[in-house]
Amino acid sequence: MSTPHISDKVTILTLQEKKRRREPVTMLTAYDYPTAQALDRAGIDAILVGDSLGLVVLGYENTLSVTMEDMLHHCKAVSRGARRAHLVADMPFLSYQVSASEALRNAGRLIQEGSMDAVKLEGGRAVAAAVEAIVAAGIPVMGHLGLTPQSLHQLGGWKVQAKSADAARRLLEDAEILEHAGCYAIVLEAIPDRVARLVTERLTIPTIGIGAGGQCDGQVLVTHDLLGLVEGCSPRFVKKYADLLSVMTQAAGEYVADVAAHRFPSAAHAYAIGDEELDALSEALDEAAIPSRS
Ligand code: KIV
Repeated sequence: MSTPHISDKVTILTLQEKKRRREPVTMLTAYDYPTAQALDRAGIDAILVGDSLGLVVLGYENTLSVTMEDMLHHCKAVSRGARRAHLVADMPFLSYQVSASEALRNAGRLIQEGSMDAVKLEGGRAVAAAVEAIVAAGIPVMGHLGLTPQSLHQLGGWKVQAKSADAARRLLEDAEILEHAGCYAIVLEAIPDRVARLVTERLTIPTIGIGAGGQCDGQVLVTHDLLGLVEGCSPRFVKKYADLLSVMTQAAGEYVADVAAHRFPSAAHAYAIGDEELDALSEALDEAAIPSRS
């Protein structure tokens, strides 16, 4: 039996090798097929189907309402669009906190039904048992420390983390616990750059930063932030590479104006029928209209 093999597929080994070579790992989020296609073609290393889905696609106030079914739906779409990138699925709120066995069951669904390559979950020592159970089943786990949006209420809002010596020491310990539990990489969100640097130096696995400065082994952003698809002001760490919300609004506005003014559709957008066929149709309609004499 031949084994399906894509030679340039990015794996957890590729990411770990990049850390050794000091080559930055690139990761962006995607939630649908065309975005996954575009990111894959752009040469991204990893695509995260983040639970940020709740905020930027589903219009929720935070990530807490996102369910396993939401994640599976979007993972399936992304997996159909990406060929080369390493695919990571966020485990949504309450899919891994209740017990290690539930965590394993839900991680397995994201791999088996969602066609993902790995899962990501938030937290440090509190989730170590879940990480161990998932890794023991052969599923790669990415950790997530610092600002962990699923603990938003406990953190008291979207705040930069690990700013005191105590909090930074605890984060460093958590990072080591996650590495020891079997994580192959860790996202560091919204922490001071010098703390992120310390974590990066202490771990053998890659750190992937978002609002954690330039010293991490890789970087991740929410694609909707980068493309300018999010209304209002973005966090300080976002670099906006396009203003697609304006482009979309303008394009839709032009369409509305064209239809209202009968400028669209024009002949170029219509399907033609030959004169002969149209004449035949007219005759048939005329005949059908003549009342029978019998
Ligand atoms: O859900 C998400 O998009 C994330 C990134 C911010 C890392 O977790």
